[in-house]
Amino acid sequence: MVSSANAHAAAGRRPLVVGNWKMNGTRVSCVELLAGLRAAGPFDAEVSVCCPFPYLADVALSLQGSGIGWGAQDCSQHEPGAYTGEVAAVMLAEFGCRHVIVGHSERRLHHAESDTLVADKARLALSHGLTPIVCVGETRAERDAGSTELVVKRQLSAVIHTLGHCVSQIVVAYEPVWAIGTGLTATPQQAQAVHAVLRAQLLAASTRAGEMRLLYGGSVNAGNAQELFAQPDIDGALVGGASLKVADFSAICRAASHVALGSIGKSRT
Ligand code: 13P
Repeated sequence: MVSSANAHAAAGRRPLVVGNWKMNGTRVSCVELLAGLRAAGPFDAEVSVCCPFPYLADVALSLQGSGIGWGAQDCSQHEPGAYTGEVAAVMLAEFGCRHVIVGHSERRLHHAESDTLVADKARLALSHGLTPIVCVGETRAERDAGSTELVVKRQLSAVIHTLGHCVSQIVVAYEPVWAIGTGLTATPQQAQAVHAVLRAQLLAASTRAGEMRLLYGGSVNAGNAQELFAQPDIDGALVGGASLKVADFSAICRAASHVALGSIGKSRT
């Protein structure tokens, strides 16, 4: 049997770990956190942090030349214009953003974002050279009702419909809503099962889907990351709470780097 680490490498998928700071931090704490992260690197996995909009300039300055990327947690579905309070994808590109999260469950829930709206945001992000990280995931009630697969496929199919074969340029994050910020993580087997469903759906839409990174998110921490990354279709993580602590986040980045090196458990030399 091909080891899972080899499965990632054979498919040309470099593991990706993204920190989602959500609405946390201060200007001072952000800069401190990034200084610690820079010192902990470099990492063989790709690493990126998605910060609140007002901190983008500071984050760009702190991470310049470090190899660590940065991005935002949302963007508008519109080009610049009369949309008070919104931030356009082209503005994020101006700040050197590599990634932008779209369709996070907290936005779907608190801002009533629909599947088609999320797809439109992903399209705008791509058109300005950003990589959208599209989040999908079921609630506890949906899982209990046995509709996990139905829900995530519906969410992803809106994006596939809008992007067509260009869908291979996005990153997908599976984040079961019941695992976010709760300390409850999907088991590696539960997460892998959903990732396999998503991969199959993507493969039907694009011949390049085998190269796409599918991230898992939901209470990822230093203790559970390695086992999650050992799954053949889990190519990294979208990390909330643990991304605010240098030691925890860098341990997760190191776990992903072991996969990048093609040997789980092997230290970087
Ligand atoms: P936690 O890692 O805090 O559960 O958050 C996950 C998440 O929502 C990342 O986008």
